[in-house]
Amino acid sequence: MKKVDLIGVGMTKFGKHPNETGRDLLAEAMREAIASVDKGIDIKKDVKALCVGYFTPDLFEHQGHIGALSAEWLGVSGIPAFRTESACASSSAALATGYFAVASGIYDIVMVAGVEKMTTLDTPGVTDALSIAADDVFELATGITFPGLFALMAQEYFEKYGGNWEDLQAVTLKNHHNGALNPKAQFQEEILAIAKKTAIKKGVTFKDEMDFLKSKYNPLVAYPLRLFDCSPISDGASVAFLASREISNQFTDKPLHITGVGLGTDTLALSGRSDLTTSKATLNAVAAAYKMAGVTSNDIDIAEVHDCFTINEVILSEDLGFFKKGEGLKAAQEGRTSLSGDKPINTDGGLKSKGHPVGATGIAMVHEIWKQLRGEAGERQIKGNPKIGLTCNVGGSTASSMVFIFERGKK
Ligand code: COA
Repeated sequence: MKKVDLIGVGMTKFGKHPNETGRDLLAEAMREAIASVDKGIDIKKDVKALCVGYFTPDLFEHQGHIGALSAEWLGVSGIPAFRTESACASSSAALATGYFAVASGIYDIVMVAGVEKMTTLDTPGVTDALSIAADDVFELATGITFPGLFALMAQEYFEKYGGNWEDLQAVTLKNHHNGALNPKAQFQEEILAIAKKTAIKKGVTFKDEMDFLKSKYNPLVAYPLRLFDCSPISDGASVAFLASREISNQFTDKPLHITGVGLGTDTLALSGRSDLTTSKATLNAVAAAYKMAGVTSNDIDIAEVHDCFTINEVILSEDLGFFKKGEGLKAAQEGRTSLSGDKPINTDGGLKSKGHPVGATGIAMVHEIWKQLRGEAGERQIKGNPKIGLTCNVGGSTASSMVFIFERGKK
């Protein structure tokens, strides 16, 4: 097995891109990824294969055959190229596939990517398109949606461990704070700023940010989750280059080593699970990733954790071993996951604030780890010279989970 390095990564701004197709977004992300390779990369000469994560191009863009199309559009037509699909973890699936391809020695450089162009549909259309990531036979027939599925997890969590929706707002407030420092984020505003704007627009007053979050301007989506507990509907793309460690110094003296890869699955339908307050897929994935990297949760300096809904950040932060079961909510409230906390999580604003074009999310998480471990995260750079970062990207209601561990390479 060859060792595998990350040598460059780029992403578009996440949000609404009405004038760009998925392929345009991919090209934009690739241009930024190329620019991030310190010593340059000639994609036509160097890239040997392409994997693109896109959850549902068929429903969002009436487009299939994404591999060949992306290769053509990205200027590498002729090389092996295909799409990976694993719901909201589709680009982590591309990253894993690219990793396996380089580690096996078959290709020495692989371009991996993710994209989703969601705003072609209205909210009911998006809800319907996303719903195919749940179990059509045993779950969707009940009329449940993804906000509904995660709302069930929140209800069970509060029942089992205590806490309530107000406590959960620590995640919303933190992720909007971080997103306000991220020029790539869909929402670049603190909750207080949004509250002030809403107050002026609607001619109302709010005592503070919690008063706003409790108001009708933060409507209930699925009890107990409200609008600001949900990741938004977004367009965006992300691209990364993987290279065998034997040759990565041709491209950069500051690669990130990919030291751990762990993948896991669970039942698609929540009815098949005995405990909604834990993600079996993530427990499996993270155990494999820690073992491979030879690290424990204590060694992780920074993590990107799939907060498609606020409750999921809390549950996964426990499953990843950062906090004991039932203590993730308290840890968030105590600021332990903030930029200055001992376990910073979602320093880029997370899915909540940065946005969640589902197929692009996994590699966008890697983008943040790349920036943070190289000391290039600007205003949101965490202190303490972070060396080891982790991404945890899940598909659907965590029926698939993919964990990667990155370690800063030598200067
Ligand atoms: N957080 C904060 N604000 C949001 C938001 C979110 N998640 N989604 C939309 N908004 C804002 C919009 O910017 C807009 O603000 P404006 O009036 O100041 O312009 C306003 O809310 C209305 O936007 P709209 O798009 O009409 O909202 P909506 O009610 O149609 O959709 C959700 C809101 C929560 C239903 C939708 O974002 C959603 O389905 N999210 C979950 C997506 C998902 O399931 N992803 C997969 C996870 S597994």
